[in-house]
Amino acid sequence: MIEVSHLVKEFSNDGKVFRAVDDVSFQVKKGEIYGIIGLSGAGKSTLVRCLNRLEEPTSGKIVIDGVDMVALSKKELLNQRKDIGMIFQHFNLFLQKTVYDNIAYPLEIQKWPKEKIQARVEELLDFIDLKDKRGVYPSSLSGGQKQRVAIARALATSPKILLSDEGTSALDPINTRMVVETLKKTVKDLNTTIIMITHQMEVAKDICDRIAVMENGKIIEENTVEELFRAPKTKQTQKFISSLRESDNPDQNIDLTKYKGRVLRLSYDDQTVDQPILSRCIKDYQVDVNLLSGNMNRLDVKDFGYMIVEVLGSDQQVDQALAFMKEKGVYVEVLK
Ligand SMILES: Nc1ncnc2c1ncn2[C@@H]1O[C@H](COP(=O)(O)OP(=O)(O)OP(=O)(O)O)[C@@H](O)[C@H]1O
Ligand SMILES: [Mg+2]
Repeated sequence: MIEVSHLVKEFSNDGKVFRAVDDVSFQVKKGEIYGIIGLSGAGKSTLVRCLNRLEEPTSGKIVIDGVDMVALSKKELLNQRKDIGMIFQHFNLFLQKTVYDNIAYPLEIQKWPKEKIQARVEELLDFIDLKDKRGVYPSSLSGGQKQRVAIARALATSPKILLSDEGTSALDPINTRMVVETLKKTVKDLNTTIIMITHQMEVAKDICDRIAVMENGKIIEENTVEELFRAPKTKQTQKFISSLRESDNPDQNIDLTKYKGRVLRLSYDDQTVDQPILSRCIKDYQVDVNLLSGNMNRLDVKDFGYMIVEVLGSDQQVDQALAFMKEKGVYVEVLK
């Protein structure tokens, strides 16, 4: 259980005092995934960095499982930090160290014996499903694989809490999904509590139990993920959510002039999502299909999502394929 009360963080620049975190209070239960969203400069990173005292709070209280984090001496703090892992947008792996040595690092710092380190690292490699990458250097990994290594490193000392400062922001949709699945597994298997900052609406929806919205150093709204997206209370949150919807919308990033075939946006719901509709189109109407972009959401136990595809074939074939998809209940928009 994490209890933050009246947390304030001020920075002084040229004699001017700036409040980056302004009287913030919230609680997070064990095994909960708590999201923090908000515009750039809202104070999200500063707030999260106060939790493990990477930033020294100016005032207020942070109590983690009964331990008053603010009252700890530097030495006690080092010990307590074992219980708080952290991952970052740009992974922050040691580039000169192998995957194995990256994960082993926090255990070496804690002076674990070699055999125990080896057993623990193997266990973690298995957990992130990267056993075959133990000997390689981070430069040869995909973004998602790098972040999974960073997660393994953060989890090495079995922390109770994992902090993620935009841990999926630098990743493409497929790698984002791999990392999100790893985070879900972390909570499920290890009962870790996660506090995560994210700009990605689909990530927030998919993984968070509750979300806090920050603005000008304050939490202006906090709710379960379903309620927050269904009925945002404040104007700022409404605006913020619609701006996220726009930036999540990949239609705008696709250069339609680049494609020779017809470009379609296919929306699926929980009735159609599991059906092999595209492969039937390819087989029965001899069209070629290129996947340009896609997105899946899991909310309210329903699956829905969309794909943007280029369909290549004769006009007649493409028309037939389109009619078939519509007949099967897929909502089809022709973008080009
Ligand atoms: N070390 C510092 N000294 C002075 N001001 C700082 C310092 N760190 C952060 N700030 C200021 O505090 C405010 C909050 O910054 P913070 O990095 O917490 O925002 P954020 O919500 O994480 O933004 P982003 O989404 O861009 O990461 C900003 O105005 C920033 O300029
Ligand atoms: Mg930040």
